[in-house]
Amino acid sequence: MIGLFGVIRDYHARDTTARGLGPVSLEIPAGQAVAVVGASGAGKSTLLSTIGLLDSPTSGVYRLDGIDVSGLSEKRRSVIRRDRMGFVFQRYNLLDELTVSQNVELPLIYQGCSSSRRREAARLALDKVGLSGKGRLRAWQLSGGEQQRVAIARAVVGKPQIMLCDEPTGNLDSSTGQLIIKLLLDIHGESPNRILVVVTHNVGVARQLDRVLVMRDGLVMQDGIPQEVLAQ
Ligand SMILES: Nc1ncnc2c1ncn2[C@@H]1O[C@H](COP(=O)(O)OP(=O)(O)O)[C@@H](O)[C@H]1O
Ligand SMILES: [Mg+2]
Repeated sequence: MIGLFGVIRDYHARDTTARGLGPVSLEIPAGQAVAVVGASGAGKSTLLSTIGLLDSPTSGVYRLDGIDVSGLSEKRRSVIRRDRMGFVFQRYNLLDELTVSQNVELPLIYQGCSSSRRREAARLALDKVGLSGKGRLRAWQLSGGEQQRVAIARAVVGKPQIMLCDEPTGNLDSSTGQLIIKLLLDIHGESPNRILVVVTHNVGVARQLDRVLVMRDGLVMQDGIPQEVLAQ
């Protein structure tokens, strides 16, 4: 369970302060798939970074499974990220000098897995995303949609409790993007307690999730099931 209580993120520059997010209060129970929509600058990425402990709130409380994680050091946040979060970004963020399999293994290196376990887990993750047999290629040899599949395999290989995707289809054509969303939802469906949060500009994508948050000016303006929030 994710719980945000009056969370604010302000950005300071010289003598001005700009509100990036908040105040936002919301809970996301285990198992839920949530879409976050809104115009550019609405605070979607800041919300995702806060949930993913890439960033910490200026004020307010973030509880993860009841534990207050709002004021943790970067070191302790990085451990929680490593063990419990999977990230997928618009830019796939793969390392070109590594093979596909090595990219997928990266989180497991940080988790301290043996190389044989890593290779096997990467193989299974690549099977899951439809890239069986591509493990020895370099990331740059793949198409955009395939690279995003590798990024998804890397995000899920450590079996994270929370999957956070920031415009995962933003660089893809619509049919490839649709396949990527289907893949994320299929993987989500396999793990009953996993939370999935997808930031998207695409209403068609948002419709497929359990819940939609509509953001504007750092605030959550609407929060409900897609049929209600995206009715018009
Ligand atoms: N690192 C930063 N420094 C200063 N302002 C930022 C920073 N990141 C985001 N912001 C501001 O916070 C607001 C929300 O940004 P963001 O969360 O990136 O929106 P979105 O992802 O919805 O486009 C915007 O006004 C943006 O300019
Ligand atoms: Mg963004």
